[in-house]
Amino acid sequence: MDRALYGSNGFYRRNAPGAHFRACAQPAEEFATAVARIAVAIGATEVVDIGAGRGALLTALEPRLRTVALHGIEVVARPAALPARIGWSELAPPEGDGVRLLVANEWLNNVPLDVVEVDLGGTLRQVFVAPDGNEATGDPPGATDLAWLARWWPLDGAAPGTRAEVGSPRDQAWAATVRSVQRGLALAVDLAHLTGRRPPHGTLVGYRDGVAVMPTPDGSTDLIAHVALDACAAAGVRAGAAATVLATQDDALRALEVSAPPVPDEYRWLIQAVGIELPTVLDQIHRSI
Ligand SMILES: C[S@@+](CC[C@H](N)C(=O)[O-])C[C@H]1O[C@@H](n2cnc3c(N)ncnc32)[C@H](O)[C@@H]1O
Repeated sequence: MDRALYGSNGFYRRNAPGAHFRACAQPAEEFATAVARIAVAIGATEVVDIGAGRGALLTALEPRLRTVALHGIEVVARPAALPARIGWSELAPPEGDGVRLLVANEWLNNVPLDVVEVDLGGTLRQVFVAPDGNEATGDPPGATDLAWLARWWPLDGAAPGTRAEVGSPRDQAWAATVRSVQRGLALAVDLAHLTGRRPPHGTLVGYRDGVAVMPTPDGSTDLIAHVALDACAAAGVRAGAAATVLATQDDALRALEVSAPPVPDEYRWLIQAVGIELPTVLDQIHRSI
């Protein structure tokens, strides 16, 4: 999955994400308004967008947050049309004395993970996918993956064919993101599922030209899998987050007084504060957990 998305011939080296898939279904302008309101509420001095794509959010924030530094983190090159004052790099810029709002919009669902499946004998096995989409099962997962599954996606007694997606790489990615904030907020917006409501057959899917297709790892297709966002939240707490809100997108936008068409409950926001209090507007959001 890593090579198919980010390798030298990978999907994201050659495509703009918005052209193929839009996970969170919020119109760009409304989302930018919501992010700008959070930035103002915490007195942010910079907004860092991780997995910034082609810079759509930062471009929409630029006229809204004139005195706030804006920075995109991307594995793909800086878009030519990006306003000059927006910074762009592959790694997070060092944090100064300010207050950082870090946004990860539809980033975690693209962080590669492993898929496992219960075989006919009841043994859990890794699933391998060839570039043409053909699947085969292999060895049982390693101890680290088994520990993650036992805690976050238990499969005891599950029927043959039941699948799980091992979220530990997303937990690690999110923990590193939270650690990159010394004072401020980290916000992940993504397609998510929670303990007790994991999808029995997984969620891995491909997108090409806006249409869901077989998840072929040949670089032609965006590959996404929903995020075990409660596991990421726990990883964020271990990484230093002092306050957490995990809410549906509708509840988050309502609290921020941003009107947008309602979306299904799987669209969720994880907000974690480090070194600052949660502002009242976020503290009053109805929490999922
Ligand atoms: C689904 S796209 C979302 C883009 C954008 N946030 C949007 O909403 O349009 C995920 C983006 O994350 C980027 N990405 C994935 N892993 C990354 C990493 N480790 N560092 C920086 N960017 C990364 C990909 O290149 C891709 O552009």
